[in-house]
Amino acid sequence: MTKVVISGTGVFTPPYSVSNEELVDTFNTYARKHNEENAAAIERGEMEALAESNVEFIVKASGIESRYVMNKSGIVDPDIMAPRLRQRSNDEPSILAEMAVDAAKKAMARANKTPADIDAVLVACSNLERPYPAIAVEVQDLLGIEGFGFDMNVACSSATFGIQTACDMLRSGSVRGVLIVDPEICSGHLNFRDRDSHFIFGDVCTAIVLERAETCTAKGAWEVLGTRLKTKFSNNIRNNFGFLNRATPEGIGAKDKLFVQEGRKVFKEVVPMVSQLILDHLADEGLDPKDLKRMWLHQANKSMNDFIGRKVLGRDPERHEQPNILQEYANTSSAGSIITFSQFNEDLKEGDLGLICSFGAGYSVGNVLVRKRA
Ligand code: COA
Repeated sequence: MTKVVISGTGVFTPPYSVSNEELVDTFNTYARKHNEENAAAIERGEMEALAESNVEFIVKASGIESRYVMNKSGIVDPDIMAPRLRQRSNDEPSILAEMAVDAAKKAMARANKTPADIDAVLVACSNLERPYPAIAVEVQDLLGIEGFGFDMNVACSSATFGIQTACDMLRSGSVRGVLIVDPEICSGHLNFRDRDSHFIFGDVCTAIVLERAETCTAKGAWEVLGTRLKTKFSNNIRNNFGFLNRATPEGIGAKDKLFVQEGRKVFKEVVPMVSQLILDHLADEGLDPKDLKRMWLHQANKSMNDFIGRKVLGRDPERHEQPNILQEYANTSSAGSIITFSQFNEDLKEGDLGLICSFGAGYSVGNVLVRKRA
């Protein structure tokens, strides 16, 4: 069978970092003001007072210490608590496309590829800036790539589902090179007024170049040994924002039109699903978990990753075997495992085995088993 390789990755990191302290200060200022303004109703028992957030809880429960965002001033303003981003005119690049082009250029440079080597562009992410025309077609145009592009969304698993899609196209021979970009402005769908989740997400964009092994000239590329995808319906991570919202105007602006989750249930249900998929996938490929040199896992929660690592390896993973970036970037949805892969793969040796794994809403899980080339 035709061998496919990941020959380059790239990361665009937004210009502003927000610490837990800044986010908690903003939330607590908002909560106090809300409680003062509604003191009488709270007193009468008609309304619940808002509890304050705290930094210790966030670090302990999630491992997150800071996050990058495309706009900071709106997020840390207690009267706004949302990003403020200028709407671009139709003649300017959209924000997602601009982030994507930056990450894509880095990935293509690493892969020794020019736009002429790419036949397909996939924008694979959780939230698209508009329904159409596809952001992927705009990215394709901005980079001067012939061929075609399309957008796809499998929430946090979008990048790994994109990798399997790219592998299938490359193996069938319909394309010679694929560029996947994962622009994630998670601050746009995060409810900064929800104490349970206001700290969870950050913004970023990652890019991946895939091609057939015979055209690869990049040093230290990764052969894709196999991919495995799984989905199982769940409402525990949900966002009801959509084009039919205007048909029910009374619901516009309600909490369910932003990210909502039952974090504890997600934790309990997704950890076994992911661990089992990884173990089954390795067994089907005739590989032993102890041969895994590194796992680049989805970046949502540190304890969740520790559990998965223990279940797969049968022991506590060493830090270098399972690096995390969520302390700096927070959860960046589909981009998390790719940032980690991009930052922590160059030290590995020819023949080393690794696993990229994402998981999230759907539920969805995506595995990509890779082996390092010369
Ligand atoms: N500050 C202080 N306390 C807080 C708080 C905050 N910001 N948010 C919640 N708490 C409190 C809760 O009120 C609760 O208090 P109680 O025990 O008195 O009722 C307690 O902390 C525990 O809350 P819980 O929501 O059960 O926390 P948790 O340990 O499950 O951690 C998450 C929350 C979201 C970090 C964790 O569940 C998680 O990461 N889950 C997986 C999520 C995931 O992967 N999602 C995918 C998204 S793409």
